[in-house]
Amino acid sequence: MGPLYAQRMSTIPKSFIREILKVTEDPEVISFAGGLPNPRFFPVEEITRAASDVLAGADVSALQYSTTEGYQPLREYIAQRYLKKKGLAVSANEILITNGSQQGLDLVGKVFIGKDDRIAIERPAYLGAIQAFALYEPLFCPVPLLEDGVDIDRLKDVLNGHRVKLFHTVINFQNPSGISYSQSKREELAELFSQHDAVVVEDDPYGELRFVGVAPQSMRSWLDGKAVLLGSFSKTIAPGLRLGWVCAKHETMDKLVVAKQASDLHSNSLCQRIVHQYLMSNDVDRHIETIIAAYKKQRDIMVAAIEDNFPAEVRFTRPEGGMFLWVTLPERLSALELFEHAVREKVAFVPGTPFFVDGGGTNSMRLNFSNENEDRIKEGIRRLGQIMKNLPAGGV
Ligand SMILES: Cc1ncc(COP(=O)(O)O)c(C=O)c1O
Repeated sequence: MGPLYAQRMSTIPKSFIREILKVTEDPEVISFAGGLPNPRFFPVEEITRAASDVLAGADVSALQYSTTEGYQPLREYIAQRYLKKKGLAVSANEILITNGSQQGLDLVGKVFIGKDDRIAIERPAYLGAIQAFALYEPLFCPVPLLEDGVDIDRLKDVLNGHRVKLFHTVINFQNPSGISYSQSKREELAELFSQHDAVVVEDDPYGELRFVGVAPQSMRSWLDGKAVLLGSFSKTIAPGLRLGWVCAKHETMDKLVVAKQASDLHSNSLCQRIVHQYLMSNDVDRHIETIIAAYKKQRDIMVAAIEDNFPAEVRFTRPEGGMFLWVTLPERLSALELFEHAVREKVAFVPGTPFFVDGGGTNSMRLNFSNENEDRIKEGIRRLGQIMKNLPAGGV
């Protein structure tokens, strides 16, 4: 008799971050580990009002089975926002409402990836994408990230060497590295993919959380049907709503809809209406500006504390938005070892290794700055700096 569980279950990495989050349940632990939006900005009262308005409307369809594609007014809102914020002309029919953008990743995997298909991902990559895609048993081709986006020459080699189905990119304020693609890098990426039969999966849950400058163009503006966009309400409203979307052209959309039907028929109808009602009756841009101002301040405090406390040899990114920055220790040091000492000093972060499917990254770590208050950010960084200087490997 063969094994009970499917072979693919042995290939997925267990989320190391979930394990770390157990450590951070202790309220005394200063956590830079999770990717949690700050709950101070969850619009509890506004969502309460929106929920009660939806239910008071006696619209029983809010509690009925519904279409797989999602609540039409919400799809229209998302399409209009693409036009307003990015100048992207997208039809509401190209929007599929999903259970967070995480489900979007799973559906993309289901639609594009067969066993042993090659897919290109960033190095380091978003762990949730690695997990979602791993279930479809691809061959991962990780391509290094440089300061302004992926290493195009290496990506070119990957695309020219083999048939590659897709490239997954977190184009703005990447999780985990905090890196954003420059306009010229996007142009190069577009040029490259215009020559290949592969899609760019532009995973963009953080794009609206930009602290400085203006948003560069979306890959869709060049690549049209070859770009599949993923978006989310998790970082701008609240992740517990579990609402996101995929934006794709018709042929891909048809396949995504079938895949979603098989998964869950449709996303929560009541929740979709509540979010739509919330969006219609509140100044969402102002709400997002409040989040941006707070996260920017928290980033500034973390960056200043790192400059003051970490040894000069330690390098780190200065993200222009989002929720994470990335620290690189000298190669001889291990972030896992640092982590063990840090937990004893009641500070948590995510060591870099899980973000690298091909090993490596042992001297790197991800720090989240959205979820701790200013004093705790300063204190946590101070403790980390102290530990770095006293590591048994000789310190930094
Ligand atoms: C890059 C990226 N994509 C997708 C997700 C999934 O987010 P959600 O399913 O809440 O929209 C996250 C969450 O942290 C993320 O960082």
